[in-house]
Amino acid sequence: MRSMLIVATLGSAVALPVAAQQASDVLEPEIAVALPDAFSGLSEPARAAWAAREAGQPVQAERWMVAAANPMAVEVGAEVLRAGGSAADAMVAVQAVLGLVEPQSSGLGGGAFLVWYDAATGEVTTLDGRETAPMAATPRLFQTEEGEPLPFWDAVVGGLSVGTPGTPALMEAAHRRWGQANWADLLAPAIRLAEMGFAVSPRLAGQIAGDEERLTRYPATAAYFWPDGAPLEVGALRRNPDYAETLRILAAEGAAGFYRGPVAEDIVAAVRSAEGNPGLLSLDDLARYRVVERPPVCIDYRGAEVCGMGPPSSGAITIAQILGKLAQFDLPAMDPDAPDTWRLIGDATRLAFADRGRYIADSDFVPVPVQGMTAPGYLASRAELLGRDDALPEVAPGLPEFDHALMRASDTDPERPATSHISIVDAAGNALSMTTTIESGFGARLFVRGFLLNNELTDFSFRSHADGWPIANRAEPGKRPRSSMSPTIVLRDGAPVVVTGSPGGAPIISYTANSLIAHLDWGLDVQTAIDRPHLVNAFGTYILEEGTAAEALAEPLEAMGFTVRLGARTSGLQMIAIGPDGLSGGADRRREGIALGE
Ligand code: DON
Repeated sequence: MRSMLIVATLGSAVALPVAAQQASDVLEPEIAVALPDAFSGLSEPARAAWAAREAGQPVQAERWMVAAANPMAVEVGAEVLRAGGSAADAMVAVQAVLGLVEPQSSGLGGGAFLVWYDAATGEVTTLDGRETAPMAATPRLFQTEEGEPLPFWDAVVGGLSVGTPGTPALMEAAHRRWGQANWADLLAPAIRLAEMGFAVSPRLAGQIAGDEERLTRYPATAAYFWPDGAPLEVGALRRNPDYAETLRILAAEGAAGFYRGPVAEDIVAAVRSAEGNPGLLSLDDLARYRVVERPPVCIDYRGAEVCGMGPPSSGAITIAQILGKLAQFDLPAMDPDAPDTWRLIGDATRLAFADRGRYIADSDFVPVPVQGMTAPGYLASRAELLGRDDALPEVAPGLPEFDHALMRASDTDPERPATSHISIVDAAGNALSMTTTIESGFGARLFVRGFLLNNELTDFSFRSHADGWPIANRAEPGKRPRSSMSPTIVLRDGAPVVVTGSPGGAPIISYTANSLIAHLDWGLDVQTAIDRPHLVNAFGTYILEEGTAAEALAEPLEAMGFTVRLGARTSGLQMIAIGPDGLSGGADRRREGIALGE
């Protein structure tokens, strides 16, 4: 590890690389190179956090920390924590700002999963704020009259893909349970920013410019993101008074102000009248939305307890399967850059995804063998398949303990690449890991009252049957689509040691599992773990992150029999480690997040 200086600013301690410090007596010149102009209004601690990330160094803190995908959102969360708020309070404030400054990824029109470690009780709780299918949906939601699956993008844009949003209800549920601060106060910073305007970030501007055809299909969406026929540019000041008004309603009435009344009416009208692709959502669907508490899925991994979100997310079970198989091998002694290490991890991931495809869906609708899939004996037997020198020629789902009369067919549709991850530890020691989404970038491209509606229903299988069997993850009325989101908290001796998670579609599972391997098994600090090149093999093609050292593994992996391709792997990991010396945070340079603490 390179040497570090601890710079105390405004009562905060942020670890900075010495190089960044030596460049000048203040931080300006070094940071000015990396910090986009859009973030020029940031506080000094936030700028230091950005510099640390750019230098590949974790940020250190003593009492609390927040990591999220946009520095403006992180600063608002830090204010809440500094004032003594809980991690749940900070999440509400962060999510409200993310919905404004990173609207392409998450917001009031989407859904989220939350994992909570409670310092007072030592318990882990998971809350499911996933979008739900309208009661009018059928298994043939995304099929032509002939029963053929619709082309993916034909299904995404418009009303058909919109599920009942869960994020507003989840924000309220978490706040009711674990919040201390005044609800309306937590929404106030986002309201102010929406009224005053925020500077469009480079990533947002790039995504707006790259999505002209879809973003300009509906007038309200076009008017906000492509005003006067031109895309919003980096640094442009964007006001969003409609969003401010929606948040005021939420502040005054709670989530009920979203799920009933004029906001709900406008959502339903936008969905049902979407030209060319109207949807099914009704006022009743919104009024009956509920956050569901689910049992956490936890496994032992080399003495650590890895806990996450069970069905309808596939995240925790699939990560448990990957790690459970790898636990049969001495991974900590293996070279992180060796082909054989990645043969093992890649094929462990492929096997886990084969099970995921067959068995995981909304457990309120389909029996999911959670115990069987994560049982050590079952995983040890699956791991035996990995005792070889080359790639597995074929990968099929296994037979975990289960009533196989209840068998369903596999869904191998990968979820597509928006989404955001928030990791928080508060001064009382509570930890929160939440992955939040509107599914694809800009969701269904329907913009209502200052926020975008999700296209989460396209996470269902478009096919309803395979080989005469119903597909577990097919659409059904009131069902929640399978997710890959993997908000994770790792415990040791009952206390949290890592909080992590990422956006990125199905590869979320690999990004998260691999960040844990890098940190827990190879002892890398959280920023270095995040920065490592990605190698992801979920469905048979090994995708190596292009432009990184992973490219060097293409030839040896091919020689082992893998099909290999280079590609972008845009994770957005936000990771906090909690150790005897305090908190250590990292944020993914592939997106625009920072970790900030004191
Ligand atoms: O729930 C899921 O797994 C997906 N809807 C997440 C989509 C996503 O992460 C896109 N990321 N860039």
